This record gives sequence, structure tokens and C-alpha cells, in this order.
Amino acid sequence: MTLDAVRKAVPGLRQALRAPDLEVTSRGVWPVLHLNTRKLVRSYPAQNPLSADRMYLPRTEAERYACASEVRLFLGVTEDGEVIAPKLATRSHAAIYGMTNSGKSTLMSVIARSLAAQGCEVWLADGKGTPEFRQLYLDRVPGITHLSVATPATMHATVHKLLELYRFRRDLGDELVQRGVTDIRWTRVVLIWDEMGAFLNSALSDGADPVARKNAEYTVNWLAEVAAKSRAYGVHLLVAGQHVYSAALPSKLRENLSIRVVLGRASDVHIQRLFEEDVRDAAKAAREGIEPGMRGRGIVQADDGGVVQMQAFYNDAAASAALDRAMAGTPRLTRWGHLFPVEPDAAGGAGRMAAVGWLGRRRQARARRHRRGPRNRRARQTQHRDRRART
Ligand SMILES: Nc1ncnc2c1ncn2[C@@H]1O[C@H](COP(=O)(O)OP(=O)(O)OP(=O)(O)O)[C@@H](O)[C@H]1O
Ligand SMILES: [Mg+2]
Repeated sequence: MTLDAVRKAVPGLRQALRAPDLEVTSRGVWPVLHLNTRKLVRSYPAQNPLSADRMYLPRTEAERYACASEVRLFLGVTEDGEVIAPKLATRSHAAIYGMTNSGKSTLMSVIARSLAAQGCEVWLADGKGTPEFRQLYLDRVPGITHLSVATPATMHATVHKLLELYRFRRDLGDELVQRGVTDIRWTRVVLIWDEMGAFLNSALSDGADPVARKNAEYTVNWLAEVAAKSRAYGVHLLVAGQHVYSAALPSKLRENLSIRVVLGRASDVHIQRLFEEDVRDAAKAAREGIEPGMRGRGIVQADDGGVVQMQAFYNDAAASAALDRAMAGTPRLTRWGHLFPVEPDAAGGAGRMAAVGWLGRRRQARARRHRRGPRNRRARQTQHRDRRART
């Protein structure tokens, strides 16, 4: 057959050979058929560490402010070697979803280290109890100031504290603008919440305990407010989970999570819920070639809007140690925790979550002394009498 005849027969050949992507090229006068039925094989580096030379490393408090506008969320690289690292100043909140064992927690801990290295304050919340997060806290990474694990009260309280921080900065910002200050910079605070989906889902789905449900509804509203309004105030969210149905990822929150990553081969449901209609086809094309068991491989919407396949940054023990050495000079921020239970007579007390704030060490000691009452017996009796008289 001549080359022209083969070219004309392409539609029939595609049907007969069940090869919809079949193409014809020529070698001299000979036609060459490319069936293109094999899956696309994309090549990525065998090692994909995130090193400190990619980021600004502040050494002083002033530099933390100066670097804040440059902070990036380092996610991974594409097959062309392009680094996917959106700036938090423009794309402020992120969602990382995907099936179990796809590398979500591992990527989040790389991100937590890198954000801390860039001068952010990082709060960790962990709905399940993953060892990676515990390790980060135990390693005393300089910018990681908090870890809440699994207990609902601490998770709600941490989100509430984030909301309070945003509202405080907003009010302070308004005040400063009124006084004529326009160039206001905030250092960045990022709440990284692994397994948020599982946590919310168990509280919000049918048949859940009504109190847990109510608390979770508050928390979702707080998260949604932060996600909708806090970009200009340096307050950010990075959440993760497996499932994307509405209890696990409420719509009012999802809409404002502008960075969306699916690790592992994205299901149609993941694509449907996480990508807008106009990029869903691109997302389906980008997931081609992702096989089960490929850890850290996923799809993400790049800064230019297109959906691309990427390989997440992954630091083995040596790369992690190198990053730690590089960030050793980053200012060490004060760590904090929640103190339970809240005093009933504290503002907003009587068990209301709103009262749960952070207490520094000195204030904790003062609160303990306050609870214990005076050491002196006589003073204790007087206090007891006073309290009874009051009630
Ligand atoms: N990019 C990567 N390269 C190599 N190994 C990886 C990578 N990412 C994760 N792993 C390994 O894969 C395993 C699972 O990773 P990880 O726990 O982060 O998954 P996950 O998505 O959080 O799972 P789960 O939903 O069960 O919490 C871990 O042993 C981790 O060390
Ligand atoms: Mg995990």
C-alpha cells in the first residue's frame, strides 16, 4: 500500500485495531503505524529532595517579615523539571487529597519543614495520629509551635485560635490604616491539618453524636471564614484527607482552597469535586500514567491554570538532616498548647470552646496557682468563705 492510501485508511484502521490514537508517519516511502495503545510512561527523578537553596531563609525576626511575601508552598516537580511551588501571597490555602498510602502525610511534613524554614509559624493538627507529625514536633523544628492530635476539643480550639488571630490582625490592620499606615506586613501562620476529612466526617455524617456535630459545624464555619477572608492577613490553611464528599470537605471551605492536589491516581469523584468544570478534562489527561503504588505522584493545578502531573518532594533521612542544618538559624518561636479544662468563671467559660485560648508558661503557672488557691490555711478559709458568700 502506498503512504497516501494508508493515511486515507486511518479511521478504519483505528476502529479495526482498537487504537483510537493510531498515527501514521513515513520512513522513506514506507508507511509506519504508531498504535499508541501503550500507557504513557513519564519519567521523573528517582530522588526528589527539597533542598534549602530553593528558598529564602530568614535569620532574624525582621527578616521573617521581609521574607513573608516570598513564602512558597513547595509541592513537587513536573516531568519537565518545572517546580510547582505556588506563593502563599497569591494562592493562600491548599487541599491535598488522595487515597490511603499515596504520600499525603509525608508531603505535608516536607511542606511543614519548608514553611518553617521560610520563617512561617506552623501549627500542626492531626485527625488520626500520624507518626510524621509527632516526629516533627519532637524534632523541635524552630517554626513549628503547636501540635494537636486527635482529641476533638484541641482541634476545635486550635481552629478557633486561628480565627481569633485572623480577626485580631484584621482589626489591627483597620486601625493602622486609619492612622495612615498602608504598607502592613504580617508574618505567615499556617495551620496544617492532616486527616481533616476523617475528623469532620465522623462528626458530621448521619447518626453522629449531636454535640460532636454541633462543635464540628462551628469549626467548619470558622475554617470557612478564615479561608474566605484571611489571605491579606497572612493566615493560611493546608488541609488533607482521603475522601472528598461534602462531610469530609464542606463546600463552603473547598471553594476557597485555591491550591488543590490529588495524590495517587485521582478518581472521577476526586476530579469532579476538586477541579472546576473547565479543567476536568485536563485533570483526567494529567492523571494518565499514575499507577497504584506510586507514592507522591499526583496531579495539581499549576499557577497558569493548567492541570499537570507532578512528583511530590520527598526528603529521605539525609536530605531531611541537610534541610534541618540549613534552617538551624531560623528564629525559634515560642511553642504553645491548650490548657483544659477552662475555668468556669473565665470569660466565655462554663465549658464553651470560645474560652480556650493559649497560655504561656507563666500564665499557666498563674492559672494553676489560682486553681489551687492560697497556700496559707487562714487565707484559704477566707477565700472559701468569700466564694460561698458570692454564690
Ligand atoms: N514521595 C515519596 N517517595 C517515596 N516514598 C514515599 C513518598 N511519599 C510517601 N512515601 C512513603 O509511603 C508511605 C505512605 O506515605 P504516607 O503515610 O505519607 O501516606 P498517606 O497518604 O498519608 O496515607 P494515609 O492516608 O494512610 O495516612 C510511607 O511509608 C512513606 O514513607
Ligand atoms: Mg496520612
